[in-house]
Amino acid sequence: MSKIQVVEHPLIQHKLSILRRKETSSKEFRELVDEIGMLMAYEVSRDLPLEDVEIDTPVAHMTAQRLAGKKLAIVPILRAGIGMVDGIYKMIPAARVGHIGMYRDEETMKPVEYLVKMPTDIAERQVFLVDPMLATGGSAILGVDVLKERGVKNIKFVCLVAAPEGVKALQEAHPDIDIFAAALDDHLNEKGYIIPGLGDAGDRLFGTK
Ligand code: URA
Repeated sequence: MSKIQVVEHPLIQHKLSILRRKETSSKEFRELVDEIGMLMAYEVSRDLPLEDVEIDTPVAHMTAQRLAGKKLAIVPILRAGIGMVDGIYKMIPAARVGHIGMYRDEETMKPVEYLVKMPTDIAERQVFLVDPMLATGGSAILGVDVLKERGVKNIKFVCLVAAPEGVKALQEAHPDIDIFAAALDDHLNEKGYIIPGLGDAGDRLFGTK
């Protein structure tokens, strides 16, 4: 079964508390999501392989280390996932970015993909699939389906706030995917909002509604 790792770094927890507050403006919200994305990247990339490289400092020769060139991709689930891309991208500028757009079918209430744009070599890349809210798990599951259909083997799901219902659904559908979250909240309400959560992440990011 996949693991869920709640990243309990004090900086992340502090920023997340400001993010959750209803008084936080869209501008501040965007900045915080960006910063938390950057800090999450630190944890999510912890197992990236290193290789030795010979370098000269101004005073000596040494064997240093660098990333072993593992290919990465950041794939946001539209729309709210976009808010997390830049922070991760700043830490891993060699990554490529794919996009998955989904809408909810009014009859089935299930997510349906309407846009998939991936780097051509996505199958060879390790993918960070990002969406700030893991609520019912429907979008995350479909996002992983889309990636696996394209041959991706190594996927990590990165979110800010997860609900136990979404974690369970994603783990059952895709037991091989590790989940990283800044918080594991209490439950989903009858409208599908995470409680206590932070409201609608897309609306808060983009100042809509
Ligand atoms: N999506 C959101 O943006 N917020 C929630 O609470 C649940 C799903």
